[in-house]
Amino acid sequence: MTGLYPDTRNIMNKSFHMSPDEFRKNAEAVVEWIARYQENVSKFPVLSQIEPGEVYAAFPEHPPQRGEPFEQVLRDLDEKVMPGITHWQSPNFYAYFPSNNSGPSILGDLLSSGIGVQGMLWATSPACTELETRVLDWLVEMLGLPSTFLSSGSGGGVIQDTASSATLCALLAARERATNFASNEVGCDGTLVAYTSCHAHSSLEKAVKIAGIGKKNLRLVDVDEAFAMRPEALERMVEADRRAGKKPFLVMATVGTTSSNALDPLGAIGGIARKHGLWFHVDSAMAGTAALCPELRWTQKGVEQADSYVFNPHKWMFTNFDCSVFYVADRKMLIETLSVLPEYLKNQATMAGAVFDYRDWHIPLGRRFRALKLWLLLRHYGVEGLQHHIRRHVELAQEFLQWVKADERFEVMAPAPLNLVCFRLKGSDEENQALMERLNQSGKIYLSHTKLNGKFTLRLCVGQAQTEREHVGAAWELIRSESGNRVIE
Ligand SMILES: Cc1ncc(COP(=O)(O)O)c(C=O)c1O
Repeated sequence: MTGLYPDTRNIMNKSFHMSPDEFRKNAEAVVEWIARYQENVSKFPVLSQIEPGEVYAAFPEHPPQRGEPFEQVLRDLDEKVMPGITHWQSPNFYAYFPSNNSGPSILGDLLSSGIGVQGMLWATSPACTELETRVLDWLVEMLGLPSTFLSSGSGGGVIQDTASSATLCALLAARERATNFASNEVGCDGTLVAYTSCHAHSSLEKAVKIAGIGKKNLRLVDVDEAFAMRPEALERMVEADRRAGKKPFLVMATVGTTSSNALDPLGAIGGIARKHGLWFHVDSAMAGTAALCPELRWTQKGVEQADSYVFNPHKWMFTNFDCSVFYVADRKMLIETLSVLPEYLKNQATMAGAVFDYRDWHIPLGRRFRALKLWLLLRHYGVEGLQHHIRRHVELAQEFLQWVKADERFEVMAPAPLNLVCFRLKGSDEENQALMERLNQSGKIYLSHTKLNGKFTLRLCVGQAQTEREHVGAAWELIRSESGNRVIE
């Protein structure tokens, strides 16, 4: 020890970081791990078979004081983490809606982590903003969406984490449009009312709570026999609210509801929105991907009237979570709603108004380079490749639908326009629930349920990237055999 302070030079020169060489070696092991996982994913029980608390208990109570060898960590991943995984990437996964991925999107995400930019402003990495704008303009063309959503017009698109966040942003912009920005200044007065169908996703309910609209000011519009919103019921509710001194301000329609993939009539709902001055938001979270195929675009006829639109490439478009695409027809309204500009974020490009600063298009300030995974995906598959796989999924679901219809033990519970089939045993709810539990416990497939017309209903959604005919065929065989030799009374 010399002088007052200990000589720390040796320690200061030491680095705990992973060197580029170590990174190269470990990354090879991880890529190999993922490739092996992809090859073998169908061999795992689709639904994790562990009991609550098992993974938590598998790890020590205290954090590691000393760094550990990478191989040891990968071993623990295999032995302690993987048993607690439900395999969303299994071709035998049919539950909920898919959350699928693909080689190019995984690699795009890896590149995004590797480059490691934070693209809150154009200036903090121009490419992070401009590639996103370009890719989202491509998607407008690919999905046959209205040209108002293009960045070259009055609108534009942004990648958000989830459809829930995008819907919240739509609601906030609608709120400000309806109150001429007074609600941003002084808060809400309890008079604004939003509308959606009683089969819409719960994200709108969450949004009205967060945005200060209040749950009591969310109206759930009745649906028809196909579980689609009844436009005439919507209009009646809007008029009644007006008469009662309320201010109707937003309607959300769904293309592909979560329960049954019902398609709200966008044309009629958009017409009512326009007539009554409501913001028209369209939630196409899962089914929006179908519009890649021109012959399936009828599902979103009327979308040209939308003020905003969301769909999730992280559901059916082979892009790993999270990647939700949000479009608005009037970006000025969205930006004015969300923009705040503290001194420390001021910069020349922003002040000149010459660029998009995506921090003003969503709730967080920081944002990562998500466009890379979409860009790699689109360049790998091309439009043609994506169309091929989406068509295949729809064909497989339609084939499954025919099998169900042909077996008199089962009934189909909803129209199946795309890749989701809702069906049940002709029997009690208990029998159907027990059937689902047997199927899921077998580990061979995983499907989920809903209630339609008050009846417990099984949902089989074909959307996992690797699902092929052999898988859907085996799923049907399993469902049939687990349904035994039920005699129909
Ligand atoms: C129709 C619909 N909208 C919204 C969502 C919410 O999606 P996210 O998890 O991206 O918020 C879902 C989720 O399944 C959905 O099915």
